[in-house]
Amino acid sequence: MNFEPSDIQREIQRVCREFAARELTPNARKWDEHHQWPTEAVKKLAELSLMGVAVPEEYGGAGLDNVCYAMAMEEISRGCASTGVIMSVNNSLYCDPVKRYGTEEQKKEFLTPFARGEKLGCFGLTEPEAGSDAAAQKTTAVRKGDEYIINGSKNWITNGPKADAIVLFTMTNKEAGNRGISAFLVPTNTPGFVRAEPDKKMGISAAHSCSMFFEDMRVPARNMLGKEGDGFKVAMSTLDGGRIGIAAQALGIARAAFEEAVRYSGERKSFGKAIREHQAIQFMIADMATEIDAARLLVLRAALLKDQGVRHSTESAMAKLYASEMASRVANKALQVHGGMGYSKEMDVERHVRDARITEIYEGTSEIQRIVISANLLKD
Ligand code: CAA
Repeated sequence: MNFEPSDIQREIQRVCREFAARELTPNARKWDEHHQWPTEAVKKLAELSLMGVAVPEEYGGAGLDNVCYAMAMEEISRGCASTGVIMSVNNSLYCDPVKRYGTEEQKKEFLTPFARGEKLGCFGLTEPEAGSDAAAQKTTAVRKGDEYIINGSKNWITNGPKADAIVLFTMTNKEAGNRGISAFLVPTNTPGFVRAEPDKKMGISAAHSCSMFFEDMRVPARNMLGKEGDGFKVAMSTLDGGRIGIAAQALGIARAAFEEAVRYSGERKSFGKAIREHQAIQFMIADMATEIDAARLLVLRAALLKDQGVRHSTESAMAKLYASEMASRVANKALQVHGGMGYSKEMDVERHVRDARITEIYEGTSEIQRIVISANLLKD
């Protein structure tokens, strides 16, 4: 066992940390306030090869491992959680399944330009009546000759308003339950594809999501990702990786909140001394730092298992469950350290509280993570 990052891991951490300090942290409050998509920052992420971190170089990616990806996600999200989730969806939920299940022909069209960051991907699983119960898909795909005709809708699709393609999950055989779900690669300029206005959300306001509708949308049969009926497994195994990305995002949010609390506790005085000289604040700082480190160990373990090609559903769920709930606890404590100023829009800490909250919900709620963990443990 070795807790030392490799040279390349250290380097990616440094590059991302400097990029976040220069391009993200100074702008994140403004982007949040104006619900402004960070166009330039996403372009620069692409220049740094961060839109396809664990995609091989031959397909336009950085050719790094998932530990590097998790470290990059933490640093980017520390600067701006919205930018973090845009990056995470393109990396984990879009590029990763195309890399693992795509044919060579599909990879050329649907992986390379996305891993390079020339195009943006999204993941269409959630529906109005299929959130936690992901197998309850109502969107249908019916084969007609060399095409499938797709009808239905998806909602809460992060990156949806800007995406050039979607990994879309549909029901191809209702009688077969979760074994009747199939995945497709669908360019968003396909006739019959309609997107709604961006959703109005509590946090991660600069990362846009939307509902989308498919009206007799014709998709070539060759665009099926994986085999017919394998869509649920494509979705679940993709989420095993996605949850590492969201756990690392939560970690970045927690670190931002923690570091601001530490700084503020040295500046703010009460009862004649800096508040960090009061034990009440020292204990909060100790708890925050301990929880952040514990979450990071869980995140890196899950990423390492993914790199080793080992099934990591339980470890990813543990990392996501702990890191997301930790981020909310830490952000709230950081707000408490700031006192009245923490409640002000003039400080960043209130944004961290709002941004942290979603990490307990998307890519599987905390309750779903507990179901995954206990089901796997009890089965074993
Ligand atoms: N990898 C591979 N296969 C898997 C798997 C995995 N991780 N998990 C389950 N499977 C397989 C099972 O082995 C089983 O296969 P067989 O039928 O061959 O035995 C099959 O899938 C069904 O498994 P379950 O019986 O466990 O399925 P279930 O219907 O009980 O559902 C669930 C399980 C864990 C509740 C699942 O529905 C789930 O994860 N729900 C949450 C969905 C979610 O996370 N949505 C997030 C949307 S994306 C998002 O949020 C993006 C964003 O905005 C940023």
